[in-house]
Amino acid sequence: MAKKNILIVPGDGIGQEVTAVGKKVLDAIAAKFNHEFIYDEALIGHVAIEATGNPLPDETLLKMKNSDAVLFGAVGHPKYDNDPSAKVRPEQGLLKMRKELGLYANLRPIKLFDELLSASSIKPEILKGADILFFRELTGDIYFGEKGRKNNGDTAFDVAEYSRYEVERIGRKAFEAARTRKKKLCSVDKANVLETSRLWREVIQKLALEYSDIEVEYQFVDATAMLLIKNPCRFDVVVTANLFGDILTDEASQIAGSMGMLASASIGDGTGVYEPIHGSAHDITGKGVANPLSSILSAALLLDISFGLKKESEAIISAVDAVLKQGFRTRDIADTNTAKENILGTDAMGEAVLKFL
Ligand code: IPM
Ligand code: MG
Repeated sequence: MAKKNILIVPGDGIGQEVTAVGKKVLDAIAAKFNHEFIYDEALIGHVAIEATGNPLPDETLLKMKNSDAVLFGAVGHPKYDNDPSAKVRPEQGLLKMRKELGLYANLRPIKLFDELLSASSIKPEILKGADILFFRELTGDIYFGEKGRKNNGDTAFDVAEYSRYEVERIGRKAFEAARTRKKKLCSVDKANVLETSRLWREVIQKLALEYSDIEVEYQFVDATAMLLIKNPCRFDVVVTANLFGDILTDEASQIAGSMGMLASASIGDGTGVYEPIHGSAHDITGKGVANPLSSILSAALLLDISFGLKKESEAIISAVDAVLKQGFRTRDIADTNTAKENILGTDAMGEAVLKFL
């Protein structure tokens, strides 16, 4: 029996709706496998700005540091997207959380459930068997370098910066993961143009000497964007910088049928944070149609990675698989073959998964 403290941080938009379902699934696991999960909740993003003026209140950060794992929703609000001059923004909360918790490795597994082969806009014969694990560096790069304006505001800059140790620690995690999979690693950069990428490649090349059992390839980010669609099955583990990883994993989410299917784990030296890769999706917020499977699968990652509860994690994945096999879909993964009565809302999809658990 495990006794663990889990902090629930739903954040904004559909983050609230899907995280509530993810938590229910954790509850069901605790009951089924006789664990004790103790929950607390905290604010981040737009809801935190509204309540406290701060997108990441100190209280939230403290609770995160003191918990065994965090189940996270999403941050963002259209109000800020259309106001480039806003000084305080929801996303600052997310970035500060990543930095303060030292969450330098963002794992984004892209795995297509067989049932969803036809939900993707990519041809089934190209997709079948695709199984990629992205390691996106999460606390460096252009996201965290100096930024500002000069020339009376007419020129703007964002500095991209990487240090050797930052590349090395994410690189190691990716090599180690490749060892437990198909032993293939693709390091993605833009070393033909960027100095940070040349350092990146140098460090990975050096690491490769230590991992001679892993087949390593180097690709430029533009070519990778193309190859992901052309032949997704050629990839196993992919490691890349923060910005490239952000963009490539949104693209790769289409391999899994929908952004609503993809979970992620952000890990580092302390508490791990588990979240859907999708955002706050204010266009569908409050309609009860958001796909909760990404939060449910995030809960599965949490159990596996932070708590080492492999059986429990697999139980969740099997339940999701079973629900999909039964033909149930949320709107985003439905296709023309989906019977109308099988298209479920957020809560009903959650209930369907709970039933199988
Ligand atoms: C993600 C998101 C964030 C990012 C945004 C919300 C700041 O797109 O987690 O991928 O760019 O990292
Ligand atoms: Mg993103």
